[in-house]
Amino acid sequence: MSEEWHAFRRRTDPQKAAAAHQLADADHCIQCHGPDLLGQEHIPRLAGQRPEYLKQQLLEFKAVTCGDIDGNMSSAAQPLSDPDTDTLAQYAANLSTP
Ligand code: HEC
Repeated sequence: MSEEWHAFRRRTDPQKAAAAHQLADADHCIQCHGPDLLGQEHIPRLAGQRPEYLKQQLLEFKAVTCGDIDGNMSSAAQPLSDPDTDTLAQYAANLSTP
């Protein structure tokens, strides 16, 4: 558990925070985007982006209307429900950047 994660918990309803963390872990978001979703190499930073934008991107990856470099994001978005995309978008948006 990082500092960022604790800060997020303080700002957010604990149930939502736990759900977001579980999703990010179970769906491997953090393996690619990094533990604080800061991105690495060709993988974009999610932390601190606008939640509306993040949610929109996730819905488009899921619908496969948004072409991605290698198809990884389209696969990663498949198991997400609409409320999941909301939870994850809020989570990422609330993480701060260095
Ligand atoms: C296998 C690696 C991988 C996994 C797992 C993964 N991503 Fe991604 N993600 C990427 C890559 C690569 C891109 C860039 C795709 C592109 O622009 O073509 C991306 C892009 C995104 C974007 C768009 C960001 C922007 O600035 O446009 C969002 C939002 C996102 N990912 C969220 C998630 C979430 C939430 C999860 C977990 C459900 C997740 N990703 C899992 C690799 C991954």
